[in-house]
Amino acid sequence: MTKSAKLTIGEKVIDLPIHSPTLGPDVLDIRKLYAEADVFTYDPGFTSTAACESTITYIDGDKGELLYRGYPIEQLAERSHYLEVCYLLLYGELPNAAQAADFEYRITRHTMLHEQIHYFFRGFRRDSHPMATMVGVVGAMSAFYHDSLDINDPWQREVAAIRMIAKLPTIAAMAYKYSIGQPFNYPQNHLDYAGNFLHMCFAVPAESYTVNPVLAKAMDRIMMLHADHEQNASTSTVRLAGSSGANPFACIAAGIACLWGPAHGGANQACLEMLREIGTVDRIPEYIKRAKDKDDPFRLMGFGHRVYKNFDPRAKVMKESADEVLGLLGIENNPTLQVAKELERIALEDDYFVSKKLYPNVDFYSGIILDAMGFPTSMFTPIFAISRTVGWISQWKEMIGDPTQKIGRPRQLYKGEKTRDYVDLRHR
Ligand code: SDX
Repeated sequence: MTKSAKLTIGEKVIDLPIHSPTLGPDVLDIRKLYAEADVFTYDPGFTSTAACESTITYIDGDKGELLYRGYPIEQLAERSHYLEVCYLLLYGELPNAAQAADFEYRITRHTMLHEQIHYFFRGFRRDSHPMATMVGVVGAMSAFYHDSLDINDPWQREVAAIRMIAKLPTIAAMAYKYSIGQPFNYPQNHLDYAGNFLHMCFAVPAESYTVNPVLAKAMDRIMMLHADHEQNASTSTVRLAGSSGANPFACIAAGIACLWGPAHGGANQACLEMLREIGTVDRIPEYIKRAKDKDDPFRLMGFGHRVYKNFDPRAKVMKESADEVLGLLGIENNPTLQVAKELERIALEDDYFVSKKLYPNVDFYSGIILDAMGFPTSMFTPIFAISRTVGWISQWKEMIGDPTQKIGRPRQLYKGEKTRDYVDLRHR
């Protein structure tokens, strides 16, 4: 029996169906509301709005739970690896050995970029932020890969997905090398996904480079933790761009642009820069005070989340990984890590953060690990973009494959001028 809610507006009573999910809150279906009651709903930040139906990722903000296709992130972070998580997000099930080998082969054979794209980088200033380069180069991929632009062809959608997962690390590494004036490294197909990325970033022609397995494992885990996250701002951007029929490369470029913001994926860079600015534990109270001051725009970067009103489960795994990696590198006394831990301890005892349910999010510890690996802060969000590409592409494929899909076109609460007549210049 279908559940429903009754909405009374003036003399009208509107019957709104209620849909029940596999997990999470019920959904009130308002699709016919405007047609039947001539009213819009109003939810500018989409705080109470389900924009789509999805089977990919589930988040329980109160319990601090994150599931990729039903599997808890903690189990995947501990027992899986990034390419296996990519397969899971794209196709819905964990691969068997043959499927895993085939998927890894297909990704590996697409890691190189069309040689002409190398010239794109030369058009940027050396001091361009790598995210600017990535937005430009990923968007330009639609000028090269014409055989994977037709979104109505499932085979072309599949090839576009494989190409982007495979090439984003190469593009990000090239953006980094370009920014430091070093030559590009080609992918090395004998290396695994994370190790290949480290090699492309840190190898130089003048000497041999051996991937540190501890760092490669930590990088792979960071990539798993960032792979998908339901309908966050950048994923919603990809879905909205895709709903117009834009090609997949343009949609992913739009997602990268949205992720760049400091309220979203740019928070990992902003968080490490904040921790460095705080510098020492004794300066933490000054920043806690500023974060609580309504008249001060300063916020604790890496803290708070629209959905998590409990610990971000990814932050817990990231904190353990930071301890492990810095310990293995012999820098467990890293001052930034000490400041982060003390800041977390103080904030979680402070009524302002407790009452507003503000906890460390995925960005709070990730920068400390990336910094320890040798990455500049400007590379933190590009690494987030590499990881999230599989989530964006999986959500895009789900949307394109939905027969009921329509172009996204929200309405508004108009508070502008009423109709008025034009006044000639001589009368103004
Ligand atoms: C990511 O959506 C996703 O899933 C994103 C993400 C993903 O994987 O895709 O998880 C990745 O983007 C993580 C979030 C990274 N951003 C930051 O760390 C930036 C700092 N955090 C905030 O800007 C904020 O917490 C947001 C943007 C993350 C969430 O903002 P909301 O949900 O709109 O919450 P809000 O701004 O309305 O804050 C609620 C209250 C406000 O106080 P009041 O106006 O109610 O008095 O909490 C306060 C805020 O002022 N607050 C903070 C704070 N975050 C919220 N105060 C101090 N420091 C903070 N970090």
